[in-house]
Amino acid sequence: MSITIFLLWLLTTSFFSLISTQPSPSPPPLRGYLINCGSKTDIQQDGIQYSKDEGYTATGTRTALKNTTHITLPILTTLRYFPYGPGKHCYDFPVTKGAKYLIRTTYYYGQFDGGTHPPVFDQIVDGTTWGVVNTTEDYNNGLTSYYEIIVVANDKTLSVCFACNEQTIRDSNPFVSLLEVLILDSSLYNSTDFGKYGLVTVARSNFASETDFVRFPDDPFNRYWQPFVDGNPTVEAHVNVTSSEFWNRPPAKVFLSGSTTSRGKNLKIQWPPFSLPTNRYYVALYFQDSRSTSPYSWRVFTVLIDDKTFYQDLNVTTKGVTVYGTEWPLSGDTQITLTPRSDMPVGPTINAGEIYQILPLAVTTLARDGIMVILNSLLLALQMLKQSLKNPPDDWNGDPCLPKEHPWFGIGCTEGKQVRVTSL
Ligand SMILES: *[C@@H]1O[C@H](CO)[C@@H](O)[C@H](O)[C@H]1NC(C)=O
Ligand SMILES: *[C@@H]1O[C@H](CO)[C@@H](O)[C@H](O)[C@H]1NC(C)=O
Ligand SMILES: *[C@@H]1O[C@H](CO)[C@@H](O)[C@H](O)[C@H]1NC(C)=O
Ligand SMILES: *[C@@H]1O[C@H](CO)[C@@H](O)[C@H](O)[C@H]1NC(C)=O
Ligand SMILES: *[C@@H]1O[C@H](CO)[C@@H](O)[C@H](O)[C@H]1NC(C)=O
Repeated sequence: MSITIFLLWLLTTSFFSLISTQPSPSPPPLRGYLINCGSKTDIQQDGIQYSKDEGYTATGTRTALKNTTHITLPILTTLRYFPYGPGKHCYDFPVTKGAKYLIRTTYYYGQFDGGTHPPVFDQIVDGTTWGVVNTTEDYNNGLTSYYEIIVVANDKTLSVCFACNEQTIRDSNPFVSLLEVLILDSSLYNSTDFGKYGLVTVARSNFASETDFVRFPDDPFNRYWQPFVDGNPTVEAHVNVTSSEFWNRPPAKVFLSGSTTSRGKNLKIQWPPFSLPTNRYYVALYFQDSRSTSPYSWRVFTVLIDDKTFYQDLNVTTKGVTVYGTEWPLSGDTQITLTPRSDMPVGPTINAGEIYQILPLAVTTLARDGIMVILNSLLLALQMLKQSLKNPPDDWNGDPCLPKEHPWFGIGCTEGKQVRVTSL
């Protein structure tokens, strides 16, 4: 029933090492957790500190890859895997309730289990199944896979979990290579009701760029901006935008390249480069007039998505501008069309874009913001029991009842608006 986008971006195993090392004032450090799963030590790579995973999870087994043919990065040579069977296996992170987080999971199989195909399994954030992890195609192409979701913490702990599903082959093990939980500023994507929804990244693209991913330090939150090139003419900007003037804080670097077309013509872009399941999406597009700043350096065009007007007569200057749709329906192949106003001496242009799938979140079993939930005495008893047990069952972590396919082993839960524990 839930639509899953598992085809995310592919990340070549070498890109980390290609990050530019221009001398620049050192950026503020990343805030959040960057976890090198399965590692016994902390590792510094490309100016980012990755921590070992000890202390964040009580389940699973550390291991090193058996086949490192395509691996150039130490952080991908280890992983943690979890037992086959029912139940979910979680990492728990202390977080600030109400703060916004970008969670990114990265997977590189490397035949850690001696098999030939990566296992297929679910990933879960708090009580919500966020998607199916299937890295087979990427792995066969020598690529690492990653998935992202943006959520607001509704409690002081945020859990990221892994669980078998019907497609998980018997006796294979869910696993994870890297886990990042990064704090985002509150203004980012703030038209979304994060009390009800998470945003699952579908595409975050830097148009007309042939370079590597743009990410930290150019992006202060280590979002990955993938290059996207098509047959359209490209332009290079003459002026840097001020990133902090945009609520979503797009890195100034992604504005430096743009797709364009000649005067009087419509600019058409097939993006993202894959078909989308019918759903509502958050869409943000970023534009800048590429010329040097002058009284004439602006252009007006209309933005259409699949021939529906997204924004009429947008005036784009050298300062840059963004337009976004909070809940835009999309289905199948998507086309962005920029139609210049008839009197414009220059063609339209676009620099970057983001698309997120809007994912309804499950109501957690524990108390939620502002609602007085009478905690079911059984639930309390359950938590006390867990605390008192020396060795609670392996899967007693994360939400006890949710997602409903993966409750704690040995307990019963009722469904409905308020999920409750009913039996033990
Ligand atoms: C290691 O992986 C590579 C590429 O995925 C593959 O070509 C090779 O056969 C593998 N080696 C072994 C010993 O399985
Ligand atoms: C996983 O992906 C591969 C390659 O796209 C596909 O052939 C396979 O059917 C998928 N497996 C499952 C269980 O969905
Ligand atoms: C989003 O953040 C900006 C900048 O802090 C603020 O001006 C704006 O009102 C916020 N919008 C919403 C819908 O909260
Ligand atoms: C934009 O800023 C970068 C450094 O932040 C600088 O290298 C580049 O020259 C600037 N570009 C323009 C067009 O001013
Ligand atoms: C577009 O913005 C520029 C700069 O603010 C302004 O000079 C110009 O008149 C605007 N054009 C239109 C059609 O509003």
